[in-house]
Amino acid sequence: MKKMMLFPALAMMICGCQEQPERESVAILKSPDGRLSMEFTVDTGGKPEYSLKYGDEYVVLPSGLGFVLRGSLKASVISYGDTVTKTDARPERTFCDGFKVTGTDTSSFDETWKPVWGEESEIRNRYNELSVHLLKEDTGEKMSVRFRLYDDGLGFRYEFPGMQELDYFVIKEEMTQFAMTGDHLAWWIPGDYDTQEYEYTDSRLSEIPALFEKSVSGNSSQTPFAMNGVQTSFLMKTDGGLYINVHEAALTDYSCMHMTVDPETFVLTSHLTPDAQGWKGYMQTPCHTPWRTVQVTDSAEKMLASRLILNLNEPCAYDDVSWIHPVKYMGVWWEMIAGSGSWAYTWDFPSVKLGQTDYASARPNGTHSANNTNVRRYIDFAAENGFDALLVEGWNIGWEDWSGKSKDYVFDFVTPYPDFDIDALNRYAHSKGIKLIMHHETSSSVRNYERHMQEAYCLMDRYGYDAVKSGYVGDIIPRGEHHYGQWMVNHYLYAVTEAAKHHIMVNAHEAVRPTGLCRTYPNLIGNESARGTEYQAFGGTAPEHVTILPFTRLNGGPMDFTPGIFEMDLSTFTGNSSKVNATIANQLALYVTMYSPLQMAADLPQHYGKFMDAFQFIKDVAVDWSESRYLDAEPGDYVVIARKAKGTGQWFLGGVTDEQRRTFDISLDFLDRGKTYLATIYKDAPDADYRTNPQAYTISTEEVTASDTLSATAAPGGGFAVSFKEIRDR
Ligand code: NOJ
Ligand code: CA
Repeated sequence: MKKMMLFPALAMMICGCQEQPERESVAILKSPDGRLSMEFTVDTGGKPEYSLKYGDEYVVLPSGLGFVLRGSLKASVISYGDTVTKTDARPERTFCDGFKVTGTDTSSFDETWKPVWGEESEIRNRYNELSVHLLKEDTGEKMSVRFRLYDDGLGFRYEFPGMQELDYFVIKEEMTQFAMTGDHLAWWIPGDYDTQEYEYTDSRLSEIPALFEKSVSGNSSQTPFAMNGVQTSFLMKTDGGLYINVHEAALTDYSCMHMTVDPETFVLTSHLTPDAQGWKGYMQTPCHTPWRTVQVTDSAEKMLASRLILNLNEPCAYDDVSWIHPVKYMGVWWEMIAGSGSWAYTWDFPSVKLGQTDYASARPNGTHSANNTNVRRYIDFAAENGFDALLVEGWNIGWEDWSGKSKDYVFDFVTPYPDFDIDALNRYAHSKGIKLIMHHETSSSVRNYERHMQEAYCLMDRYGYDAVKSGYVGDIIPRGEHHYGQWMVNHYLYAVTEAAKHHIMVNAHEAVRPTGLCRTYPNLIGNESARGTEYQAFGGTAPEHVTILPFTRLNGGPMDFTPGIFEMDLSTFTGNSSKVNATIANQLALYVTMYSPLQMAADLPQHYGKFMDAFQFIKDVAVDWSESRYLDAEPGDYVVIARKAKGTGQWFLGGVTDEQRRTFDISLDFLDRGKTYLATIYKDAPDADYRTNPQAYTISTEEVTASDTLSATAAPGGGFAVSFKEIRDR
């Protein structure tokens, strides 16, 4: 090993100390294409660090690794009230230094795998790997850090072999650092432990503390935060034009990672979601953490094409995946969100107790949306227009008091309201080729959900449901855990793997943000975990939101964003004065730009009925793809993507802009050479504008080939969508 002094000025800046640490280089790992390189070093105090370079340019300066651990339970100071105190033999301690390197392993890997559903039919997983084995000389405790370097970024995780010296431990904090080289631009949402339902703030890293309070105020959630912390996927752009995205992959049995940002040194430090007592993770060796990831590309389009997060997840855990399939669906939903319908059946009950509330004698409130007649109306419309499924919310008893004090007893997930004939409606739907999608709003009464789960899934089996939308609105009782802590992370995966035993697909709302687990558990076909379309009915969302999500939230897996709103003025059918900040053409484009194998047409049948020519795009667009091309993108400004449908070979194109009018000249060279296509082009009309004229669009057709260029102007808050169908018979 060679001794060297590295980057003295920067090291001083990071440490805030006068002494320059002397670092010993342990190993250098290169990406398969040689462009990225990472170095592992240990300083004289046994402090391990890693750094990452793109060519000769640092992306991550030498950055610390490790933890602060609570002493093992036997050894901690624990008080039970004021009666019992145990004395501490092994106190709380840092696990960031005092290490000796005992060995390293390197290897290479290259495979191509086929996702069950996805943005492409094949994904290449190619990386070089380095494992560094560390020993705490004073205690004999061991830890390895495994690095995987891809052409588009780095993943690393901490691994603990089974050992007597550290058989279990409790994490006080993870101390992983990502030391940035400058005051990069960043797109971020605050480090809330319970929700991601925010609009993004874009700022320099140094501005985050000043803007933090403002970023929080946009959300009604009053839950605790990592102060000056941000959530991941955390996207940055350097002044030199590199895009850097810090996230995590394969989050299981561990707390979700946020990061705090030092506005002066630009060092990001991991900040795990605490449990109800403030501890961050309960670990029993052998075990490992999720992967910490740093994606690096020289263009925004390449960042959208990165599959690093999926690649770091384990292969599919199921032998039989024949029951898992993409879904295009409608829902008895938007009318409740917008306010013209209700989930609840009656207003008779101020509170609800399961088994004690007599729904049969209650007076219906007249607005209950999940009633037999209305559900049949949606089934008819969905069937006529070629959909696969219909979500029905508010079908089960308990909604009168679902977020109230008695919520521990509210939902049993098996008892329909008197006006929802579960047997007849499922039979009616199936006779028309439609599946009903189950809805389980848990109201975050998670123990209540777990104790009803088997019965609830069995009910779905009985009536032929194969997908459930679950939800976690509200505080998690009775434990007071956070939505993103280890306990809930385990619950979400438990719900998915139990569902798999019943061949049920899961779309969980308010769950922890995705980290690529859908590769291993592909029945996790959707998650919300971000600010979705519903907020257009809760005061609105700025148009730029949909130009940022593909880089951030979608980095970990698909989102049930619920696009397709055509009636932007909600006051035309409810008392809601909220406006949908989008044009119709923008809403169409989202089916291409916001990838998901689960796509909803969220608006009401009667609203689509007024614009059936535009609705044709939603009917035609695919939900599973063999190829995707990221044509033009800049976070916060615009995203243009083309995708080839799996099976049919048809191409679809979508583009969205922020509040700026933009014109795109798009080369159609992604189309198959030698073929002629009929392009049906859905564009904003020249006078369209999301504020004043959101429903103005034009539809035209053209014969095109791969040598053509398409010019499309997106209005403020607008977009465009194109379907390309091959012309065969001439
Ligand atoms: C919030 C979800 O995001 C929304 O889709 C759902 O309708 C409500 N919770 C009720 O479960
Ligand atoms: Ca939500």
